[in-house]
Amino acid sequence: MADKPFLTDIKTLRERARKHIENGAVTEGYKADRDTVVKLLNEALATEIVCVLRYKRHYFMATGIQAESVAAEFLQHANEEQTHADQIAARIVQLGGAPNLNPEGLLTRSHAEYVEGDSLIDMIKEDLVAERIAIDSYRELINYFGNDDPTSRRLMESILAMEEEHADDLVSLLGELGQ
Ligand SMILES: [Fe+2]
Ligand SMILES: [Fe+2]
Repeated sequence: MADKPFLTDIKTLRERARKHIENGAVTEGYKADRDTVVKLLNEALATEIVCVLRYKRHYFMATGIQAESVAAEFLQHANEEQTHADQIAARIVQLGGAPNLNPEGLLTRSHAEYVEGDSLIDMIKEDLVAERIAIDSYRELINYFGNDDPTSRRLMESILAMEEEHADDLVSLLGELGQ
C-alpha cells in the first residue's frame, strides 16, 4: 500500500502553488464556489451590521429603573457584532471579494430585521428574535461550506457560538425581568 494515497504528491502541490499566485489564499485546491461564498458572506456581513445598529439603538434608548444592566448587555452585544462584521469582511477580502458596506439594500441583504421596540422588554425580545434568525441562517452557511471552505466554516462556527451565547443572555435578561 502506498503512503498516504489520498494526499496530493509534493511535486504537484509545489507546481500548483506557483500558478496564479495573484489569487493569494485562494489556491487550486479551493473546492467551494468562490462567488457564492462571497455572496453568502456578504449577507452575513449585512446581518451583523443590522445587529450592530439595532443593539446600538437599544443601548441608547434603554430607560427605566432596570435599564442599566440591560443597556450594558446591549452595548456589549453591539461591540461583539461589530467584531463579527470585521472578521467576515476580512475573510471576504481574503477570498478575493469585496465587502458590501453599501447602506442601500443593507436591510434586504440582512437575514435579521431592524425593529426598534417600544419598551425594554420589546427590545430584548426583538434582539432575541434576531439572534435566533442569525443562529439558523449561520448554521445553514456552515453546512454549505462544509469541507469545501473550512476557514469560512470555522469562522462562522465561532460566530454562531457567540450568537447562541447572545440568545442565552437575552433569555436570562427576560427571566430577570419576570418575563
Ligand atoms: Fe454577530
Ligand atoms: Fe449576536
